[in-house]
Amino acid sequence: MIGKHYVLTGGTSGLGRSILCNLLNKKAYVTILARNPHKLDDLKVQYGTDHLNIIQCDLQSKSQILNLKNYFKNQNIDGLIYSSGLGYFKSIAQHSLDEMTETYTLNIINFNILLATIQPYFSAYPTIVGIGSQSAFLTQAYAAHYGASKAAFNQVLNALRLEHPNYHILTVNTGPIATPFHEKADPSLMYAQKYKAIMLEPNKLAQQIVNGMIYGKYEINEPQWMHRTLKLYQLAPRLLEKYFTSFFKNKA
Ligand SMILES: NC(=O)c1ccc[n+]([C@@H]2O[C@H](COP(=O)([O-])OP(=O)(O)OC[C@H]3O[C@@H](n4cnc5c(N)ncnc54)[C@H](OP(=O)(O)O)[C@@H]3O)[C@@H](O)[C@H]2O)c1
Repeated sequence: MIGKHYVLTGGTSGLGRSILCNLLNKKAYVTILARNPHKLDDLKVQYGTDHLNIIQCDLQSKSQILNLKNYFKNQNIDGLIYSSGLGYFKSIAQHSLDEMTETYTLNIINFNILLATIQPYFSAYPTIVGIGSQSAFLTQAYAAHYGASKAAFNQVLNALRLEHPNYHILTVNTGPIATPFHEKADPSLMYAQKYKAIMLEPNKLAQQIVNGMIYGKYEINEPQWMHRTLKLYQLAPRLLEKYFTSFFKNKA
């Protein structure tokens, strides 16, 4: 990883911030796309700015993403790590039009726009890491748009792997992680409190992800018990939803 150049989104918080520290510890060069660059002031002091570069970019804005081509024009990019993401834990009817649009725009549409924008500057064998979610694999009342956006993200990443055999695509399907994500998804923090005991630790997951990048893994599914349970669920999803409904409404 020494000397490689990665573009990272979501680096100002939670899992993305942990991935950033891991990459900087490994002496990679990281360009962060952040809407709030000041959130990285402490890391600029801790790591210096030789390997850390921050570009202000609101990933809800198509024009700001398209403008990045001017910045990356003469650069070589060894990979993209897309850790920005959001979701609202509420019913389909309770989502405002803005919340619904924001979810799909950040989680899937603008990932594609960013990819298309920086793709011309990729090195011969780039690594693309997508932070997805186990919610892509099950029906979820009160998180439908989040799950749908992550399912779409998964499909795009899998197709990309086939369309570009020279790309190393690593999809991270994760269950709940102890990050500020939950403050926005459910400001009552009811879900976060209820599932505190099973939440993944972001630093540990970030380390697994960086190792996955090094060793060429295609997928990281954590926690593994959740991944295995969801495989079984796929055998008879409608039946299980009918008889164990409360499991599928745990974000209410
Ligand atoms: N936490 C979980 O339980 C969980 C579970 C499954 C999957 N995931 C996925 O894991 C990934 C990382 O989430 P996290 O838990 O680390 O959440 P987080 O702490 O809320 O971090 C989200 C990151 O996305 C950035 N972001 C959001 N909107 C943006 C925008 N318009 N422009 C630029 N950056 C923007 C945030 O920037 P600001 O700092 O400026 O807000 C922040 O850096 C997400 O894709 C999430 O869907 C999380």
